[in-house]
Order: sequence, then C-alpha cells, then structure tokens
Amino acid sequence: MEKEYKRTLITSALPYTNGPVHIGHLAGVYIPADIYARYLRLAGRDVLFVGGSDEHGVPITLKARAEGVTPQDIVDRYHKLIKESFEGLGISFDIYSRTTSKVHHETASEFFRHLYDKGEFIEQSSEQLYDPEAGQFLADRYVTGECPHCHNPKAYGDQCEACGTSLNATDLINPKSAISGATPELRTTRHWYLPLDKWEPKLRQWILEGHKEWKTNVYGQCKSWLDMGLQPRAVSRDLSWGVPVPVEGAEGKVLYVWFDAPIGYISNTKELLPDSWEKWWKDPESRIINFIGKDNIVFHCIVFPAMMMAYGDGFQLPDNVPANEFLNLEGDKISTSRNWAVWLNEYLVDFPGKQDVLRYVLTANAPETKDNDFTWADFQARNNNELAAILGNFVNRVTVLTHKYYGGTAPAAGEYLDIDNDAFAEMERLKESLTSNLETYHFREALKDAMGIARMGNKYLQDCEPWKVIKTDPERVATVMNVCLQICGSLAVAMEPFMPFMSEKLVATLGMDKPRWSDIARRDLIPVGRTIGQPELLFEKIDDEAIKKQTDRLEAIKKENALKAWQPAPVQAECKIEDFEKLDIRVGTVLECDRVKKADKLLVFKIDDGTGEPRTIVSGIAQSYRPEQLVGKQVLFIANLAPAKIRGIVSQGMILSALNSDGKLVVAAPSAKTSAGAQVK
Ligand code: 2FM
Ligand code: ZN
Repeated sequence: MEKEYKRTLITSALPYTNGPVHIGHLAGVYIPADIYARYLRLAGRDVLFVGGSDEHGVPITLKARAEGVTPQDIVDRYHKLIKESFEGLGISFDIYSRTTSKVHHETASEFFRHLYDKGEFIEQSSEQLYDPEAGQFLADRYVTGECPHCHNPKAYGDQCEACGTSLNATDLINPKSAISGATPELRTTRHWYLPLDKWEPKLRQWILEGHKEWKTNVYGQCKSWLDMGLQPRAVSRDLSWGVPVPVEGAEGKVLYVWFDAPIGYISNTKELLPDSWEKWWKDPESRIINFIGKDNIVFHCIVFPAMMMAYGDGFQLPDNVPANEFLNLEGDKISTSRNWAVWLNEYLVDFPGKQDVLRYVLTANAPETKDNDFTWADFQARNNNELAAILGNFVNRVTVLTHKYYGGTAPAAGEYLDIDNDAFAEMERLKESLTSNLETYHFREALKDAMGIARMGNKYLQDCEPWKVIKTDPERVATVMNVCLQICGSLAVAMEPFMPFMSEKLVATLGMDKPRWSDIARRDLIPVGRTIGQPELLFEKIDDEAIKKQTDRLEAIKKENALKAWQPAPVQAECKIEDFEKLDIRVGTVLECDRVKKADKLLVFKIDDGTGEPRTIVSGIAQSYRPEQLVGKQVLFIANLAPAKIRGIVSQGMILSALNSDGKLVVAAPSAKTSAGAQVK
C-alpha cells in the first residue's frame, strides 16, 4: 500500500541563465512538473511547486566575457526572460526565484559552513589546470579538450557531452583554455571535497533497495555510478563568480555551482515561506519530487542526497526523481551554442495564444523513456488532426447544437440508454487510467487517456446522430446533449493539467465552478438549466505558411552552422612536378550548356577549345549553376582526361571547380579574357 503523504514539494531543475529556455527543457522538465503540480492541486492535495534560475557557473561568466558585460548583466537579462516566458506558457510555479538572491547566498553559505564545522569535508591540495595568459585556474567549462573515453575533441572540463561521462578537467587530453586558447599548466591549489564514498552504503540502500520503483533510466544510472564506486568530489572552485566559500583564507574561491544550485530549492522555499519552509523539507509526512533532465541525475540522486545526509537535521531525501531523456529537433541534437532550438520566448511571439498546442505536442511526444524528436510537421499534424479535429471539433459541435436546440441552456437528461451508460463507464475507466498514469509520472499515456475522453465524445455524438433524431424524438436528443455537455465538462477538468488555457476557456463557456479532479465522469457536472456560452473555436488549424517560416529559419541556421564549422580539406600527399605536367589544363569558352535529362546534378557543355570543333563535357554542377549562367563564360578544363560515357553522353574532359564552404561548386576560370585552348602552366 502506497504511503499517503500530507504534502508534496515539487521542484524543477533550475535552468542556467546563459540563454533562453527551449523546447528540450520544456519537454524534459517544466511541462511534466507543471502537469504534476496542476493535477495534485486539482486532486485537492497540498502542493508547493518551486523553481528558479541557476545563476552561477562557468557558462555564464564565459558569455559575459564574450559580450564584454558583467555576469550580473547576463543573469539579470536571462532570469527576466526565462521567468516571463515560463509565465507565458502557464508554468504554475508557486515561486520562481534565483540563486543570486540574498536568501540563497545565505542559505548556501550556511549549508557549506555547517558541513565544514561538522568535519564533513576533506581539505586537500591538488594540481589543477591554470591558464598562465589569463592568470586563473581553469575549472569545468573554462577548459576543453579530448575526452579520454570517447575521444570527442570538444569535451568540457566537467563533462563530455558526446558520451555523457562526467570528467575532471585534468582528465582531458590536449586541454585548451576556453578563455585564451592557451595550453594550461598545472598549479597547486587547495579545495574542499565531499567524500561521497562515505555515503555510498547509505545511498546504495536508499536507492537500490528502497527505490526500485524509480524510472529505469534513473535507477540504472544510479546503479552504474554506485557500482563504479564513489569518489570524493570537490565542492569549491577558484573563481570569482559564485557564492564565496565561507571559510577564512578562502579568498578567490566560490562554491562549486553544483553544490549551491540544488540548495536553491531550499532557499526558494525559504524565500516564499520564511516561517514554514521546514515542514516541506523535514516533515516525514512531506515528500519531495525532483523533475530533471537525464544529465542531472547524478547530482540529484547521489551528490545532493549525500550533502543532505551529511547535513542531517531531518532533511528528507527525494521520494522520486522522474528524469526524462533528451528531445532532439528535426533529427539533430538541440544546442544552445549552435542556436539549434525552438526558443520558448520566440515561440510565444510567433504563435500567440497557442501555448497549449506546444504543451500538448511536447507531452504527446515527451522523451520519457528514450530520446525523441520534435518536428514542425508533427507539430502541425497534431494541432490540426488531433486538437482541432478531435477535441476542438467535439466541443464546438456540442456548444453549437446546445444553442441551436435549446438556446444555450443545458437540457435535462431523460432515461439513459445503454449507449449513455457506456459513455459514462468509459469516462470512469479513462479517469482511472489517467489518474494512475499521472500518479506514476507517465504523462504521455495520461494525455492519451485525456484525449480518449474527446475521442469517445466524438464517437458518441456520431453514433447518436442528434441532428437526425431531433425530427422524431426530441426527448432523446435532450438526453444525448446532456451527456455530451457532461463529457465537455469532464474534458475541461481532465485537460487542465495539460492545457490550462483551453481548460479555462471551456470552464468559462460551460459556466463551471472551480474544477476538481473528482468532477471527471460525473453525470451532473453541468446542471440542467446552466447557461452555455457562445460556441468558440478552441483550436484553429495551423497553416503551411506558419510552419514554413519555422523550417526556413532552421534551414538558415543549419547553413550558418555549416559555414562556421567549415574547414579546408587536408592537403593531399605530396606530388612531383611531372605528376602535374601530366594534366593538360586549358581554357575553354562555353558555347552551349543544358541540363542532362533525369539527372538533377548534371549539366552538358559544348566548349570552344580553340580547335574549331566544339568539345562535349558533362559536369556535376547543376545544383550550383543554372545553364544560362554559364553560357559565354570561360572555364578551365582538363583536356586529356580519358573520355567517359555519362548517362549515354561521351564526356571529353572535366571542368574544374572549387567546393566552397557553403557546399556549392564555383567554376574555376581565368581572371581575364583568354584565348580558347590556352594551356594552364
Ligand atoms: O543542467 C542545468 O541546467 C542546471 N542548471 C540544473 C540545476 S538543477 C538544481 F540543482 F539546481
Ligand atoms: Zn566522451
């Protein structure tokens, strides 16, 4: 029997304020956390949903340095942007604060000091990477190099994003400073380490014995960490941006961002509830649920719990850590630095009033058990074929018919037939499944259940055909329309956690009171005589143009990234002058140029090579030039290449061109008008 808790504290990972939030963050963390919080509130449970910005860490200082502004400027900019865009999407935090707040600095500082005073740290000197040009130690993302595990050449000093391994900067092969590009040297520095190994037996027992119900990806990652054996972990850094280490003689040192950030959950609770925060953290009748992405598992399941075990004083460990996998975008990994993302702030501008569509698509496609892909085509299809065609259409038909037959007043039901009772029974079944899926963090399945109510409603309406029956049996139609209105009411409640904006509209249209979870499947949710508002379209179709705008944007970014990443090909093996002299390269003038039929890459040329007899050459440059662009132009070609038959045409040579950084071919030509047939020497 599951333990009944008095209250639930929900946290969602604190996003770094070095950029806006994107759909990957939303699908992985914030939408599931919000669904859960909204569901528990509807179910009448005591809930607190805590969020905030993670404002320390190296990426923020690197961004500030690149822009020539202060780290505070960066975090102020993005904290505001992120906070407002979360509000725009209806993420229902009870508090959204930040780790540069006074309360947080005090709380994190006190936490460290408490562990320090209890002797929970190991203080140790070690050799760390130091940038002699920048005059500073290179922690975490201040250094890049080759991953010792997968040999990704762009691994960071704290983690390799290619293979997911957590690293120490000194593990990197050929490290380079991200500040100056210099090769770092080793210098000795002193730091505080949390001996995770000390807590390993307790962690093993707590997770491996006590939480077998955790998601497989979370449990599996924890098990592999624990099986590898835990090591002491440094919790301070030689940096100037962060919470200063509250110990004498620790000038120039701050808390490691992953030490202070999770304490942010505590600080933010404290900021909201200065007098009663402790009951959320220390009362065994409370439970804590951390919503995170898969890259945060070790910090939430191993490091932060070890910190809390070391702290003691009744701090409770999380009851569950429902971490999601990653969302990709159009088949490619989402990346802030490559601008390969759909940014929430931009979405809200491009699709005003369509917050629920994004919430719906990201939930229906959530990376709950494996990485998933977001595509704009799927976004459009789900909106048009599911939200508009099923849910919106059902609600619209019901409100239209209620106005048509009853002037917008809910009619009374007469005797229920089997089909009516079956509709309510099906709603009961869906409610049960929906509730159980929400309780166990299976939000995709839960959304399918909620949509099941709309699908069922559509089928019921279709089967009952009130538009036909009205002529012969108006009493029967009153019952049918009453049942339909109850289904609409249930939908308004069941959909609230997923699509709160739509739900609010529907609640208003149906004149409902504040929804409660127990209202789903009720037969008297919309009482007889209730005034139903005018029919209103809940979801509009999204047209191809709006989608093309988005895919064009991504296409442009892809090109830009390819250009940035372009490097000249390595120079070929050395050759002798005699090798070169074997090639007879000449100037030719293009007399004619045409496409080769059924070959989208080929053009066929007639070239004046000075012999008076036009030469035919087939060249694979049709994707870089239109034939008319080349007629009359001069080109360089190899005159003594053995003839070859290409698509039935004998090609007598090869036109020279350079493969440009944008992937296009540029025909090589003399810089001034030259006699046809002149040889290149
Ligand atoms: O991965 C991240 O984006 C981190 N900023 C998450 C921190 S979660 C918590 F510990 F604050
Ligand atoms: Zn790697």
